[in-house]
Amino acid sequence: MTAPAPSFCAIDFGTSNSAIAIPNQGGSGMQLVPLEGPHLTMPTAVFYCTDTSDLPPGVLREASTGPQPDLWRCFGRAAVRAYIEGYEGRLMRSMKSILGTALVEQTTELGNGSGVRYIDIITGYLRHLRTLAEARHGAPLNHVVLGRPVYFVDDDPARDAQAQASLQQAARAVGFADVAFQFEPIAAAFDFEQHATREQIVLVADIGGGTSDFSVVRVGPERAQRIERRDDILASHGVHIAGTDFDRRVSLASIMPLLGHGTMGVAQAGEMALPISSRIYIDLATWHLINTLYQPARVAEVRALQPVYANPVHHQRLLKVLTARLGHALAGQAEAAKIAVAEGHDGSLDLTLLERDLHAELDATHTEQALHDDIDRIVACAQDTVRQAGLQAQQIDALYFTGGSTGLTLLTDRLQAAFATATPVRGDRLASVATGLGLHAARLFG
Ligand SMILES: Nc1ncnc2c1ncn2[C@@H]1O[C@H](COP(=O)(O)OP(=O)(O)OP(=O)(O)O)[C@@H](O)[C@H]1O
Ligand SMILES: [Mg+2]
Repeated sequence: MTAPAPSFCAIDFGTSNSAIAIPNQGGSGMQLVPLEGPHLTMPTAVFYCTDTSDLPPGVLREASTGPQPDLWRCFGRAAVRAYIEGYEGRLMRSMKSILGTALVEQTTELGNGSGVRYIDIITGYLRHLRTLAEARHGAPLNHVVLGRPVYFVDDDPARDAQAQASLQQAARAVGFADVAFQFEPIAAAFDFEQHATREQIVLVADIGGGTSDFSVVRVGPERAQRIERRDDILASHGVHIAGTDFDRRVSLASIMPLLGHGTMGVAQAGEMALPISSRIYIDLATWHLINTLYQPARVAEVRALQPVYANPVHHQRLLKVLTARLGHALAGQAEAAKIAVAEGHDGSLDLTLLERDLHAELDATHTEQALHDDIDRIVACAQDTVRQAGLQAQQIDALYFTGGSTGLTLLTDRLQAAFATATPVRGDRLASVATGLGLHAARLFG
């Protein structure tokens, strides 16, 4: 008699990218599921199509259960591509950032009269991951380990618990009967441990899209065999500052000034001149808030500000971004420029969508200035984590980097300087957490 196929998996539901691990066929160990062609990770993005007469490649239909029309969606790279290629519809990204906020239960308009609740966007995305994984596995997957940041929400335990509860509810709605959670940086430590040849203390730095998470973990070949690892986890701590915040900083420093951010307004009758409010620019530079600016009331609010702008071109550009829905394209330019700088080039921001010949430049010095305070806070969080573990910096043997934002050497150099005696080790930036969650799932459910 053959044993039934194991029915557990592990999901790294990231702010920017996600991955799912399943047990290897017939043997021990776990594998990451190819999600789009050969890619083992996929952008956490969903594109809802609103013109069913012109659908992009890769679109999938979800039959409606209520009075709403059916939904046509694509996921991951296909979603981003559909958006960039100008198909009619709405792109959703950074949905994880909504967990723990009041937006979770709210409905966002899709633009064709229908709407979708934010929590249902997350559920739909998780369901898509599970469907792909079950097709690969050839059997149902009923148990899941989900990664979670150390804090979904900083300094607010009630909202943090609500965030995890919402994610759990989404996983249940998808059909997972058992849902367990593990901190993302601890999962990364398990991945590091696979290659550890001696016992050591590792500080994991998982710097992704939404959070910078740290943990101090005692790892080693013998310890890896144990199921109960609570004593080896010496501290975990995190801060809600990471790649999407860097994009916001870059945007506020290089794009938004061209739309009037940071300029003085014209004095209105009997009042003093005040700087133009920065609120709208901050929202416009924040992935998960961009859609809120397209609501008619907010567009009207911006339209009414016209007399306040000293430079009418700034106001025209801002209004164009809202009416032509260019917010995500601008945020994409900020992210691309940041990555170009991280890879050692100068970043050029192409703003010709907004106005002919409009460009902005970003170099390493500008990026350093824009990210300086955020990086200070991230380094301070790493140092706090080590203090919470009751250790001194020099007691850390290895510094393990994972998460897409560790591509920024101006960030990893600062962390290395703070733990100068630790050996720096670079993991798989995008897959370490999912691999480690898989190892944890195998110990828990295997
Ligand atoms: N080469 C690079 N240099 C700097 N940043 C990069 C690079 N490549 C990707 N990024 C950034 O990494 C982030 C995504 O990293 P990752 O996929 O690890 O995040 P995530 O797991 O989705 O987020 P989180 O773990 O915070 O929920 C994005 O902000 C992206 O801009
Ligand atoms: Mg991550």
